[in-house]
Amino acid sequence: MSALNKVRCGALIMSVYLSFSANTFAADPAEGRILATQCKTCHGIDGIAKIPIAPNLAGESQIYLEKQLKAFRSGKRENEMMSVVTKNLTDQQISDLAAWYESISVTVSIPE
Ligand code: HEC
Repeated sequence: MSALNKVRCGALIMSVYLSFSANTFAADPAEGRILATQCKTCHGIDGIAKIPIAPNLAGESQIYLEKQLKAFRSGKRENEMMSVVTKNLTDQQISDLAAWYESISVTVSIPE
């Protein structure tokens, strides 16, 4: 990679990072925890899925969770259940929910 490309790449990463922090500045995990009562039948309040077709959300990055929730809301990503769930969520609620699930710490153990 040329030096100029490295600079461009760095600038891109920085601008993605900055736009992310601007968008999520006021995310409140405590609010998200309350909102997550709507999600717990499938994803658990702790982010560990309760039904086999739902993914675990615990410890997922806020960036990723917000992106997916917005994609469901806009119809870019389709799922019968998630489309209904996200239909009336505001950007603020999406950030709060994402902040809640990101804030859960996960420990894993891999098979020997
Ligand atoms: C009725 C069950 C149900 C409820 C309630 C529900 N979800 Fe989901 N959720 C699913 C299923 C099933 C999927 C997998 C969708 C797919 O296969 O594409 C999913 C996917 C997701 C994903 C994508 C995760 C990934 O790794 O790509 C996120 C984020 C998510 N849900 C968040 C939420 C939040 C936040 C709520 C509450 C506001 C919620 N869900 C409520 C069933 C549910």
